[in-house]
Order: sequence, then C-alpha cells, then structure tokens
Amino acid sequence: MTSQAPENRPPLLEMIGISKSFGGVQALRDVDFTLRQGEIHGLVGENGAGKSTTMKIIAGVHHDYQGKMLIDGKEVHFRSARDALDAGVGMVHQELSIVPDLSVAENVFLGSQPTKGGVIDWPTMVREARKHLATLGIVVDPRQTIGTLPIGLQQLIEIARVLSSGARIIILDEPTSALSPPEVERLFSLLRKLRDQGRSIVFISHFLDDVLNISDTVTIFRNGRKVETTPVSQITKREVIEKMIGKGHEGLEESYTGEIRLDSKPNAPVVLETKALSFERAFQDVSLQVRAGEVLGIYGFMGSGQIELARALFGKIRAKGELTVEGKPLNLTRTSIAREEGIAFVPESRRSMLFHHEPLYKNMSISILERIHRMWLKPSKERDIARGHIETLRIRTPGADQLLGNLSGGNQQKVALAKWLTHAPKVLILSEPTRGMDVGAKEDVVKIVRGLRDKGIGVVVVSTEPETVLSLADRIVVMKRGAIVREFAGDTVSKDRLLEAA
Ligand SMILES: Nc1ncnc2c1ncn2[C@@H]1O[C@H](COP(=O)(O)OP(=O)(O)OP(=O)(O)O)[C@@H](O)[C@H]1O
Ligand SMILES: [Mg+2]
Repeated sequence: MTSQAPENRPPLLEMIGISKSFGGVQALRDVDFTLRQGEIHGLVGENGAGKSTTMKIIAGVHHDYQGKMLIDGKEVHFRSARDALDAGVGMVHQELSIVPDLSVAENVFLGSQPTKGGVIDWPTMVREARKHLATLGIVVDPRQTIGTLPIGLQQLIEIARVLSSGARIIILDEPTSALSPPEVERLFSLLRKLRDQGRSIVFISHFLDDVLNISDTVTIFRNGRKVETTPVSQITKREVIEKMIGKGHEGLEESYTGEIRLDSKPNAPVVLETKALSFERAFQDVSLQVRAGEVLGIYGFMGSGQIELARALFGKIRAKGELTVEGKPLNLTRTSIAREEGIAFVPESRRSMLFHHEPLYKNMSISILERIHRMWLKPSKERDIARGHIETLRIRTPGADQLLGNLSGGNQQKVALAKWLTHAPKVLILSEPTRGMDVGAKEDVVKIVRGLRDKGIGVVVVSTEPETVLSLADRIVVMKRGAIVREFAGDTVSKDRLLEAA
C-alpha cells in the first residue's frame, strides 16, 4: 500500500465531461469526477443536484450519457449493473434494492449464489452469509425472510452484501439513513479498514459531519454540475454548505453539540393521549400526551419500538391499551378511523404512501381514494396548489406534471409532507420526516413543522436521528427497548444527553 496522501494517489476512475438528461431534464452537465485508489470520497449536494445519477452511471444503471469514463486509464462504458460489477464496481442504492420475499442469505448473494451440481448450495450460502454479516456485527438467521426485518437491519444487510462482494469501487448512496449511532460507527471503522486495504469508496450523505469525518476527499455538486473536489482537511463545514446552497445559511452549521432550549406548553389542551399502550414485543406500557400546538419528539435507536408506536397511533397496527383524541376514546381498528378523527401519518418509507407513476400534483392531493370522491377538485386547481407547494418547499422538478418516481429522493420526501400544508389535521405523526433531505431542505421542514404547530396542530416526530428531534421538538421522550425511559421538557437538552438516555 502506498503511503502517499490520497489526493496524490493515481486515479482509479475518471469521468470526463459527463452529461446526462432525462427527457427534458438536464440532470448532469459536463461533470468531471476522479476517484483515487485507497480513498474515501464524500459526495455532497442539494436534493436533485445529481449525486445519485453520477454514481448510477459508474454502476452501470444509466448507460445513455455523453462523456467518457476511464478505469485504470482505459475507457469503459457499462451496459448493465452486471457489467459494472464484473469490472469491480458495487453500489448500495439510496432506495434499498433487496428482494423482500427472499431470505437474508439469498439477498446477500443475489445473482451470485454459490451452487453445487447446478443447484443452490444452501449450507455454504448460509455459512458464508453469516460470515459476511458478522463483519458488520449483524446477528440474524440468514434463512429468515428479509422483508420481515426492520428497515435499518435490511439496510445493514445490503451494505454487507456490497462490502463483501470484493468490489474495488464501493459506492454507498445514503447508507446510514436508518442506522443507529453505534451502527454508523461500526460501518465507518469497516470502511476505513477497506480503504486501508486499497479499496476506493464513494460515500454520499446529507449528514455533513459524517462526510467530513469519514472522507479523505470531498466533491460538491450543485445543480447538475460539479463545483469542487478538495481534500477534507482544506474545507470547513460552512464552506461546504455555501458551495452547496449559497450564502446566508450560517445557522445550518450547527451540529447540535451544545444545549438546546426546550419550549414545552404544559397548559395547552391534550389532543392525543395514550395509556399503557402495548404491542407484542415492540413496545410496552407507553403512556404519553400530545398537546395542541406542540411538537413531541420521540427519540430512540433503531429497534427501540418508536416506529411501531407511531404506526399504532395511526391504527396501522393494533395495540392494546387506551388511546384518546381530544378526550374521546378510540378503537383504532382501521387507519380510516384514525383519519376521520383527524390523525395524519407520514411514514418513514415514502414509497408506501406515494404513487410513483402518478404526477406530482396528484401525489400532493389528499389521497387517490379521497380524490375519487372529490371529483369537483379540478386538475387545474390541483396543479395550482401543487405549484404553490413546489415553490414554498423548493421542490426541484421541471413542473407539477412530472411523475413522482422521477424526482430525487429528498424531493419525494417533500412531496409526502406537502399535502398537510393544505389539509391540516388535529394530530400529525411524522416518522423520520427529514430522512434523505439536504441541509437546506431540513431547514424548510423545520419551518413547515413549526408553521403547522403554530396553527395548533399537535405534531409527533419520531426519529432515530438526534438532530431531527433536537431541531424540531418542544419536548422529547426517549425510548429504549420498547419503553419510555426519559423525558426532556421545559429545560435544556443536548445530543450527548439524548444518546446517553438511549
Ligand atoms: N429516472 C429519472 N427520470 C427523470 N428525471 C430524473 C430521473 N432520475 C433523476 N432525475 C432528475 O435528475 C436530477 C438529479 O437527480 P439525482 O437523483 O441524481 O439527485 P441527488 O443529488 O441524488 O438528490 P438526493 O439528495 O435527493 O438523492 C433531479 O432533477 C431528478 O429529478
Ligand atoms: Mg440521490
């Protein structure tokens, strides 16, 4: 291994003058990008800046582009993900690409299962899968169906799959969005080890602190162009943000390491209350109150039960115990009852609630079903509302008619939130509301949520990201192994104290 500084090492992969458009949308313009051997290369930029598109070209997903790509100085043009994999490129996609109905082991070896006499060699596959998973500290039965596992665990398994594929170029697109801090640490130490073995890693993330901490080099994208590539030692977080979104966002630099003041409203009326709510092994005896005009943050590591709790509040799963809205006991047997009572829910997996093959403006109306009963809402009216949201939320799209599936990850998330701006519920439950969003978009979400709160809506924000609850909540409860273990109210709180409690 060479001991040269990463920026002086020979290029492993070079992209020269890459442009890419999707129909009328110019996603990339004349992008140059160099990945060197044995470096961790951070990639940052606003939602829709072109990060995933660039990496999908390297990974063989997009083959219709202008410009040149070289590996080891030789021109390559991949026709498929298989092509790229054969050339040593592995990618973990932003939206998980596991096959939910298959076992963990089959997913680890997707497309390259070990065989014996022409059939899958199960004992070998299970044994090898266990070994690969262990490198990331994952303990799970490889024979289990992957779709039944928590989303964070699925994400870890997908990462393990690519890391163990032997790829020389490893691309991780938002790999930590569902991971808990200890899992992120484990992933980072593994990435450093792989880098020290000479592998090259691209790390895309909106957690700028993480990017600056793990990367040797960072590249900043803006508006489909590459703005700059620089060693991380030569750039500050403020400069990164400025190059991503421009000046005037100094507040975004905060890493929430200091004390945050909480502004609880102990006298506001209770809109939602639970008493001794329990669901199987996910959570037990949860009693909490949500007041009108407050944001209650529920924080916990992945698997602490908060995601299930959020679902139970909306009737997605049937919990035992008491649930009241404005004092009225509810028997949530269907999500439609929750909706009638004024409870709204935005789940963490936007895929499940958005319609990818429908235009954006339709996705912003209340729901496809309700729309059928509201034929009087003219499409032109819907489009007007959508245009307003596109502007206030700064959604990056050519227009309200664009198919939702064509939007970048973070922009889809904004669409998921948009409809609550026009259809204010009594209680709004947000699960991981800023997952996958850029710093500017997170700031927008803080404004949106505060706006809803100030209208008197009781907002519940459930997250595994300390920054998310710290930036949004007026009061925070911490969950651990299915129980509330701590409450922060009317006082100050810090990231360290949150982590400690969790
Ligand atoms: N399949 C597609 N069809 C049409 N437009 C697309 C498609 N994929 C991406 N785009 C557009 O290309 C641009 C770049 O998108 P890309 O997904 O690369 O952004 P990104 O930097 O990864 O953003 P994010 O941080 O939100 O993931 C966006 O304007 C997006 O809407
Ligand atoms: Mg992306």
